[in-house]
Amino acid sequence: MTKGNFPVDRFKGIETPFYYYDVELLKKTLQTVKALTNKYGYAQHYAVKANANHHLLQQIAAAGFGADCVSGNEVKAAVTAGFPASKIVFAGVGKTDKEINEALDLNIFCFNVESLPELEVINELAGKKGKVAQVALRINPNVDAHTHEYITTGLNENKFGFSLTTITSALDVLKTMANVTLIGIHFHIGSQILDIEEAFKPLCDKVNELQEFFEEKGIKPVHINVGGGLGVDYENPNTNPIPDFETYFELYHKNLKLRQGQMLHVELGRAIVAQCGSLISRVTYVKHGDEKKFLILDAGMTDLIRPALYQAYHKIENISSNLPEEKYDVVGPICESSDVFAKDYPLNETKRGDLIALRSAGAYGEIMASRYNCRELPKPYYSDKL
Ligand code: LLP
Repeated sequence: MTKGNFPVDRFKGIETPFYYYDVELLKKTLQTVKALTNKYGYAQHYAVKANANHHLLQQIAAAGFGADCVSGNEVKAAVTAGFPASKIVFAGVGKTDKEINEALDLNIFCFNVESLPELEVINELAGKKGKVAQVALRINPNVDAHTHEYITTGLNENKFGFSLTTITSALDVLKTMANVTLIGIHFHIGSQILDIEEAFKPLCDKVNELQEFFEEKGIKPVHINVGGGLGVDYENPNTNPIPDFETYFELYHKNLKLRQGQMLHVELGRAIVAQCGSLISRVTYVKHGDEKKFLILDAGMTDLIRPALYQAYHKIENISSNLPEEKYDVVGPICESSDVFAKDYPLNETKRGDLIALRSAGAYGEIMASRYNCRELPKPYYSDKL
Protein backbone atom coordinates (compact mmCIF):
# COMPACT_ATOMS: atom_id res chain seq x y z
CA MET A 1 0.00 0.00 0.00
CA THR A 2 1.20 3.53 -0.71
CA LYS A 3 -0.68 6.47 0.67
CA GLY A 4 0.21 9.96 -0.48
CA ASN A 5 3.90 9.88 -1.13
CA PHE A 6 4.63 7.25 1.50
CA PRO A 7 5.95 3.77 0.72
CA VAL A 8 3.89 2.30 3.56
CA ASP A 9 4.82 -1.29 2.86
CA ARG A 10 8.49 -0.48 3.21
CA PHE A 11 7.80 1.34 6.47
CA LYS A 12 6.36 -1.79 8.02
CA GLY A 13 9.72 -3.30 8.93
CA ILE A 14 11.15 -0.11 10.40
CA GLU A 15 11.15 0.61 14.12
CA THR A 16 9.07 3.68 14.91
CA PRO A 17 9.15 6.56 15.54
CA PHE A 18 11.44 7.73 12.75
CA TYR A 19 11.87 10.66 10.42
CA TYR A 20 11.22 10.04 6.76
CA TYR A 21 12.65 12.48 4.22
CA ASP A 22 11.40 12.85 0.67
CA VAL A 23 14.74 13.68 -0.94
CA GLU A 24 13.19 14.27 -4.37
CA LEU A 25 11.01 17.01 -2.90
CA LEU A 26 14.04 18.56 -1.22
CA LYS A 27 15.88 18.57 -4.54
CA LYS A 28 12.93 20.17 -6.33
CA THR A 29 12.74 22.82 -3.63
CA LEU A 30 16.46 23.53 -3.93
CA GLN A 31 16.20 23.81 -7.71
CA THR A 32 13.30 26.24 -7.41
CA VAL A 33 15.32 28.50 -5.13
CA LYS A 34 18.44 28.24 -7.29
CA ALA A 35 16.55 29.17 -10.45
CA LEU A 36 15.26 32.33 -8.78
CA THR A 37 18.50 33.37 -7.09
CA ASN A 38 20.28 32.87 -10.43
CA LYS A 39 17.63 34.99 -12.13
CA TYR A 40 18.09 37.86 -9.70
CA GLY A 41 21.80 37.40 -8.96
CA TYR A 42 21.27 36.72 -5.25
CA ALA A 43 23.24 34.43 -2.93
CA GLN A 44 21.38 31.74 -1.00
CA HIS A 45 22.42 30.19 2.29
CA TYR A 46 20.70 27.47 4.25
CA ALA A 47 20.02 28.05 7.96
CA VAL A 48 21.51 24.85 9.38
CA LYS A 49 19.57 25.22 12.63
CA ALA A 50 16.42 24.04 10.86
CA ASN A 51 17.87 20.57 10.27
CA ALA A 52 21.52 19.49 10.40
CA ASN A 53 20.89 15.96 9.12
CA HIS A 54 24.03 14.96 7.20
CA HIS A 55 22.33 13.49 4.13
CA LEU A 56 20.13 16.56 3.73
CA LEU A 57 23.05 18.92 4.29
CA GLN A 58 24.94 17.09 1.54
CA GLN A 59 22.10 17.70 -0.95
CA ILE A 60 21.90 21.35 0.03
CA ALA A 61 25.67 21.87 -0.24
CA ALA A 62 25.70 20.08 -3.61
CA ALA A 63 23.00 22.47 -4.86
CA GLY A 64 25.44 25.33 -4.30
CA PHE A 65 23.98 26.86 -1.15
CA GLY A 66 26.07 28.52 1.53
CA ALA A 67 25.49 27.72 5.21
CA ASP A 68 24.22 29.99 7.97
CA CYS A 69 25.48 28.54 11.25
CA VAL A 70 24.85 29.52 14.86
CA SER A 71 27.32 27.33 16.72
CA GLY A 72 30.76 25.86 16.26
CA ASN A 73 29.24 22.43 15.83
CA GLU A 74 26.94 23.68 13.08
CA VAL A 75 30.01 25.08 11.32
CA LYS A 76 31.65 21.64 11.63
CA ALA A 77 28.50 19.86 10.39
CA ALA A 78 28.40 22.18 7.38
CA VAL A 79 32.06 21.63 6.52
CA THR A 80 31.71 17.85 6.91
CA ALA A 81 28.73 17.85 4.53
CA GLY A 82 30.69 19.70 1.85
CA PHE A 83 29.88 23.38 2.29
CA PRO A 84 33.02 25.34 1.39
CA ALA A 85 34.27 27.54 4.26
CA SER A 86 34.12 30.46 1.84
CA LYS A 87 30.30 30.15 1.91
CA ILE A 88 29.84 29.77 5.67
CA VAL A 89 28.50 32.58 7.82
CA PHE A 90 28.55 32.30 11.59
CA ALA A 91 25.82 34.13 13.54
CA GLY A 92 24.59 33.91 17.12
CA VAL A 93 24.59 36.14 20.18
CA GLY A 94 26.92 34.04 22.32
CA LYS A 95 29.84 32.80 20.22
CA THR A 96 32.51 31.48 22.58
CA ASP A 97 36.25 32.08 22.16
CA LYS A 98 36.67 28.41 21.19
CA GLU A 99 34.01 28.67 18.50
CA ILE A 100 35.43 31.93 17.15
CA ASN A 101 38.97 30.52 17.04
CA GLU A 102 37.85 27.42 15.17
CA ALA A 103 35.93 29.50 12.66
CA LEU A 104 38.95 31.78 12.21
CA ASP A 105 41.13 28.72 11.55
CA LEU A 106 38.70 27.62 8.84
CA ASN A 107 38.69 31.09 7.24
CA ILE A 108 34.90 31.21 7.05
CA PHE A 109 33.27 33.83 4.85
CA CYS A 110 31.79 36.04 7.56
CA PHE A 111 30.96 36.48 11.23
CA ASN A 112 27.55 38.02 11.74
CA VAL A 113 28.28 40.08 14.83
CA GLU A 114 25.54 40.78 17.33
CA SER A 115 27.19 43.04 19.96
CA LEU A 116 30.10 45.36 20.71
CA PRO A 117 31.82 43.02 23.20
CA GLU A 118 31.65 40.24 20.58
CA LEU A 119 33.24 42.54 18.00
CA GLU A 120 36.07 43.29 20.42
CA VAL A 121 36.69 39.59 21.09
CA ILE A 122 36.73 38.70 17.38
CA ASN A 123 39.17 41.55 16.74
CA GLU A 124 41.42 40.38 19.55
CA LEU A 125 41.36 36.68 18.63
CA ALA A 126 41.90 37.40 14.92
CA GLY A 127 44.81 39.67 15.93
CA LYS A 128 46.46 36.83 17.85
CA LYS A 129 46.33 34.73 14.69
CA GLY A 130 47.56 37.56 12.49
CA LYS A 131 44.28 37.47 10.58
CA VAL A 132 41.62 39.94 9.54
CA ALA A 133 38.11 38.56 10.11
CA GLN A 134 35.32 39.54 7.74
CA VAL A 135 32.30 40.70 9.71
CA ALA A 136 28.74 41.80 9.09
CA LEU A 137 26.79 43.73 11.70
CA ARG A 138 23.46 42.24 12.61
CA ILE A 139 21.03 45.09 12.84
CA ASN A 140 17.73 44.82 14.57
CA PRO A 141 15.44 46.62 12.13
CA ASN A 142 12.48 46.98 14.51
CA VAL A 143 10.12 45.38 12.00
CA ASP A 144 7.17 43.34 13.19
CA ALA A 145 7.11 39.93 11.52
CA HIS A 146 3.49 39.27 12.58
CA THR A 147 4.33 35.77 13.74
CA HIS A 148 4.49 33.80 16.98
CA GLU A 149 6.11 35.81 19.81
CA TYR A 150 8.74 33.14 20.42
CA ILE A 151 9.97 33.36 16.84
CA THR A 152 9.81 37.12 16.30
CA THR A 153 13.33 38.46 16.36
CA GLY A 154 13.38 41.80 14.57
CA LEU A 155 11.89 44.10 17.22
CA ASN A 156 14.17 46.52 19.10
CA GLU A 157 13.69 45.07 22.56
CA ASN A 158 15.25 41.67 22.20
CA LYS A 159 18.63 40.03 22.53
CA PHE A 160 19.53 39.85 18.85
CA GLY A 161 21.84 42.24 17.03
CA PHE A 162 22.52 45.97 17.29
CA SER A 163 19.56 48.25 17.79
CA LEU A 164 19.27 51.16 15.37
CA THR A 165 20.57 53.51 18.07
CA THR A 166 23.75 51.56 18.89
CA ILE A 167 24.85 51.07 15.31
CA THR A 168 26.66 54.43 15.09
CA SER A 169 28.93 53.65 18.01
CA ALA A 170 29.62 50.21 16.54
CA LEU A 171 30.74 51.84 13.29
CA ASP A 172 33.01 54.25 15.19
CA VAL A 173 34.63 51.41 17.12
CA LEU A 174 35.02 49.36 13.94
CA LYS A 175 37.17 52.11 12.41
CA THR A 176 39.71 51.68 15.21
CA MET A 177 39.98 47.90 14.83
CA ALA A 178 42.81 46.41 12.78
CA ASN A 179 41.72 42.78 12.69
CA VAL A 180 38.13 42.97 11.53
CA THR A 181 36.78 44.34 8.30
CA LEU A 182 33.15 45.24 7.71
CA ILE A 183 31.80 43.50 4.62
CA GLY A 184 28.09 43.51 5.24
CA ILE A 185 24.96 44.04 7.22
CA HIS A 186 22.61 41.35 8.39
CA PHE A 187 18.92 41.23 9.36
CA HIS A 188 16.42 38.62 10.39
CA ILE A 189 12.93 39.55 11.50
CA GLY A 190 11.33 36.24 12.44
CA SER A 191 10.19 32.89 11.22
CA GLN A 192 7.15 31.16 9.64
CA ILE A 193 6.18 34.38 7.85
CA LEU A 194 3.35 33.84 5.40
CA ASP A 195 2.30 37.40 4.69
CA ILE A 196 5.29 38.14 2.50
CA GLU A 197 4.29 41.69 1.60
CA GLU A 198 3.30 42.76 5.11
CA ALA A 199 6.50 41.57 6.80
CA PHE A 200 9.28 41.76 4.23
CA LYS A 201 8.30 45.00 2.49
CA PRO A 202 8.85 47.04 5.72
CA LEU A 203 12.20 45.25 6.05
CA CYS A 204 13.15 46.40 2.54
CA ASP A 205 12.10 49.96 3.42
CA LYS A 206 14.23 49.86 6.56
CA VAL A 207 17.25 48.52 4.68
CA ASN A 208 16.85 51.23 2.03
CA GLU A 209 16.78 53.87 4.78
CA LEU A 210 19.86 52.40 6.42
CA GLN A 211 21.69 52.38 3.10
CA GLU A 212 21.33 56.16 3.00
CA PHE A 213 22.61 56.39 6.57
CA PHE A 214 25.65 54.29 5.63
CA GLU A 215 26.26 56.37 2.52
CA GLU A 216 26.35 59.54 4.62
CA LYS A 217 29.08 57.91 6.65
CA GLY A 218 30.97 56.91 3.51
CA ILE A 219 30.45 53.20 4.13
CA LYS A 220 29.22 50.72 1.53
CA PRO A 221 28.52 47.25 2.91
CA VAL A 222 28.95 44.89 -0.04
CA HIS A 223 26.79 42.10 1.35
CA ILE A 224 23.21 42.68 2.46
CA ASN A 225 21.85 39.61 4.23
CA VAL A 226 18.12 39.76 4.85
CA GLY A 227 17.93 36.55 6.88
CA GLY A 228 15.31 33.85 6.50
CA GLY A 229 11.77 33.52 7.74
CA LEU A 230 9.66 32.50 4.75
CA GLY A 231 6.89 30.26 6.06
CA VAL A 232 5.39 27.02 4.78
CA ASP A 233 1.82 25.76 4.47
CA TYR A 234 1.46 23.42 7.45
CA GLU A 235 -2.25 22.93 6.69
CA ASN A 236 -1.82 21.78 3.09
CA PRO A 237 1.53 20.08 2.59
CA ASN A 238 0.13 18.02 -0.30
CA THR A 239 -1.15 20.95 -2.34
CA ASN A 240 1.65 23.35 -1.38
CA PRO A 241 4.79 21.26 -1.01
CA ILE A 242 7.01 24.08 -2.29
CA PRO A 243 6.73 27.53 -0.66
CA ASP A 244 6.02 30.64 -2.67
CA PHE A 245 9.61 31.53 -3.45
CA GLU A 246 8.56 33.47 -6.58
CA THR A 247 6.64 36.10 -4.60
CA TYR A 248 9.35 36.19 -1.94
CA PHE A 249 12.26 36.91 -4.28
CA GLU A 250 10.21 39.20 -6.50
CA LEU A 251 9.39 41.33 -3.48
CA TYR A 252 13.08 41.87 -2.76
CA HIS A 253 13.80 42.49 -6.42
CA LYS A 254 11.10 45.15 -6.60
CA ASN A 255 11.67 46.84 -3.26
CA LEU A 256 15.27 46.60 -2.20
CA LYS A 257 17.52 49.22 -3.75
CA LEU A 258 20.87 47.53 -4.12
CA ARG A 259 23.82 49.77 -4.99
CA GLN A 260 26.37 48.95 -7.67
CA GLY A 261 28.39 45.88 -6.62
CA GLN A 262 26.16 44.97 -3.70
CA MET A 263 24.97 41.41 -3.24
CA LEU A 264 21.76 40.29 -1.58
CA HIS A 265 21.94 37.16 0.57
CA VAL A 266 19.07 35.14 2.02
CA GLU A 267 19.33 32.42 4.63
CA LEU A 268 16.21 30.29 4.61
CA GLY A 269 15.79 27.29 6.86
CA ARG A 270 12.20 26.16 7.25
CA ALA A 271 11.17 26.91 3.66
CA ILE A 272 13.91 24.60 2.38
CA VAL A 273 13.37 21.52 4.54
CA ALA A 274 10.00 21.60 6.35
CA GLN A 275 7.85 19.91 3.73
CA CYS A 276 10.25 17.11 2.84
CA GLY A 277 10.17 15.60 6.34
CA SER A 278 7.54 13.59 8.22
CA LEU A 279 7.65 11.97 11.60
CA ILE A 280 6.34 8.41 11.25
CA SER A 281 4.87 6.82 14.33
CA ARG A 282 2.84 3.75 15.35
CA VAL A 283 -0.29 3.75 17.42
CA THR A 284 0.49 2.01 20.69
CA TYR A 285 -3.02 2.17 22.11
CA VAL A 286 -6.46 3.44 21.19
CA LYS A 287 -7.92 4.49 24.52
CA HIS A 288 -11.61 5.19 24.99
CA GLY A 289 -12.17 7.93 27.57
CA ASP A 290 -15.57 9.06 28.86
CA GLU A 291 -16.28 11.17 25.81
CA LYS A 292 -13.14 11.16 23.76
CA LYS A 293 -10.97 8.67 21.99
CA PHE A 294 -7.25 9.00 22.48
CA LEU A 295 -4.59 7.78 20.10
CA ILE A 296 -1.48 7.13 22.10
CA LEU A 297 1.47 7.21 19.70
CA ASP A 298 4.97 5.90 20.18
CA ALA A 299 6.18 9.38 19.13
CA GLY A 300 5.99 12.25 21.56
CA MET A 301 7.20 15.75 22.23
CA THR A 302 10.74 14.40 22.51
CA ASP A 303 10.59 13.56 18.79
CA LEU A 304 8.69 16.64 17.61
CA ILE A 305 8.45 19.42 20.16
CA ARG A 306 6.80 22.13 18.05
CA PRO A 307 3.17 21.41 19.04
CA ALA A 308 4.04 21.34 22.77
CA LEU A 309 6.36 24.33 22.63
CA TYR A 310 4.60 26.68 20.22
CA GLN A 311 1.13 25.18 19.94
CA ALA A 312 2.20 24.54 16.36
CA TYR A 313 -0.06 22.69 13.95
CA HIS A 314 1.23 19.67 12.02
CA LYS A 315 -1.07 17.83 9.67
CA ILE A 316 -1.63 14.26 10.88
CA GLU A 317 -2.51 11.32 8.64
CA ASN A 318 -3.21 7.67 9.26
CA ILE A 319 -1.24 6.25 6.34
CA SER A 320 -2.36 2.67 6.93
CA SER A 321 -6.14 3.10 7.05
CA ASN A 322 -8.77 4.11 4.53
CA LEU A 323 -11.71 3.57 6.88
CA PRO A 324 -14.20 6.40 7.47
CA GLU A 325 -12.96 9.29 9.61
CA GLU A 326 -13.42 9.62 13.35
CA LYS A 327 -12.18 12.22 15.80
CA TYR A 328 -9.28 11.58 18.15
CA ASP A 329 -7.02 13.37 20.58
CA VAL A 330 -3.55 12.45 19.34
CA VAL A 331 -1.04 12.28 22.16
CA GLY A 332 2.46 11.04 22.93
CA PRO A 333 3.74 8.79 25.72
CA ILE A 334 5.80 11.42 27.59
CA CYS A 335 4.97 12.20 31.20
CA GLU A 336 3.96 15.82 30.52
CA SER A 337 0.44 17.04 29.96
CA SER A 338 1.69 19.23 27.09
CA ASP A 339 2.62 16.09 25.14
CA VAL A 340 -0.32 16.48 22.79
CA PHE A 341 -0.12 16.67 19.00
CA ALA A 342 -3.75 17.55 18.30
CA LYS A 343 -7.22 17.50 19.85
CA ASP A 344 -10.48 16.36 18.20
CA TYR A 345 -8.58 15.54 15.07
CA PRO A 346 -10.31 13.75 12.18
CA LEU A 347 -8.44 10.62 11.07
CA ASN A 348 -9.37 7.47 9.22
CA GLU A 349 -10.56 5.02 11.84
CA THR A 350 -7.48 3.90 13.65
CA LYS A 351 -6.35 0.70 15.28
CA ARG A 352 -3.41 -0.30 17.43
CA GLY A 353 -0.35 -0.72 15.18
CA ASP A 354 -1.49 1.74 12.48
CA LEU A 355 1.10 4.07 11.02
CA ILE A 356 0.62 7.77 11.62
CA ALA A 357 2.48 10.53 9.73
CA LEU A 358 3.05 13.94 11.30
CA ARG A 359 3.66 16.09 8.27
CA SER A 360 5.86 19.13 7.53
CA ALA A 361 8.27 18.06 10.23
CA GLY A 362 11.51 18.47 8.26
CA ALA A 363 12.32 21.82 9.89
CA TYR A 364 12.93 22.12 13.63
CA GLY A 365 11.85 18.50 14.08
CA GLU A 366 14.67 15.98 14.21
CA ILE A 367 17.15 18.65 15.27
CA MET A 368 15.07 19.64 18.31
CA ALA A 369 14.53 16.07 19.48
CA SER A 370 15.62 15.27 23.02
CA ARG A 371 16.30 12.25 25.19
CA TYR A 372 13.88 13.24 27.97
CA ASN A 373 12.43 10.15 29.71
CA CYS A 374 15.58 8.33 28.46
CA ARG A 375 14.01 7.96 25.05
CA GLU A 376 15.96 7.01 21.94
CA LEU A 377 16.47 9.77 19.40
CA PRO A 378 14.36 9.15 16.26
CA LYS A 379 16.41 7.82 13.35
CA PRO A 380 16.25 9.30 9.85
CA TYR A 381 15.31 7.36 6.69
CA TYR A 382 15.35 8.67 3.15
CA SER A 383 13.28 8.14 0.00
CA ASP A 384 16.48 7.63 -2.03
CA LYS A 385 17.94 5.06 0.35
CA LEU A 386 14.99 2.88 1.41
N1 LLP B 1 18.61 33.48 10.17
C1 LLP B 1 18.57 33.74 11.49
C2 LLP B 1 19.44 34.76 12.03
C3 LLP B 1 17.67 33.05 12.32
O1 LLP B 1 17.62 33.33 13.62
C4 LLP B 1 16.82 32.06 11.75
C5 LLP B 1 15.88 31.30 12.58
C6 LLP B 1 16.92 31.82 10.37
C7 LLP B 1 17.81 32.56 9.60
C8 LLP B 1 16.07 30.79 9.67
O2 LLP B 1 14.74 31.10 9.78
P1 LLP B 1 13.65 30.26 8.92
O3 LLP B 1 13.91 30.52 7.45
O4 LLP B 1 13.82 28.85 9.26
O5 LLP B 1 12.37 30.82 9.37
N2 LLP B 1 12.27 26.53 16.35
C9 LLP B 1 11.31 27.46 15.77
C10 LLP B 1 11.96 28.39 14.76
C11 LLP B 1 13.11 29.19 15.30
C12 LLP B 1 13.76 30.07 14.25
C13 LLP B 1 15.01 30.68 14.78
N3 LLP B 1 15.76 31.47 13.83
C14 LLP B 1 10.16 26.66 15.16
O6 LLP B 1 10.15 25.44 15.28
O7 LLP B 1 9.24 27.24 14.61
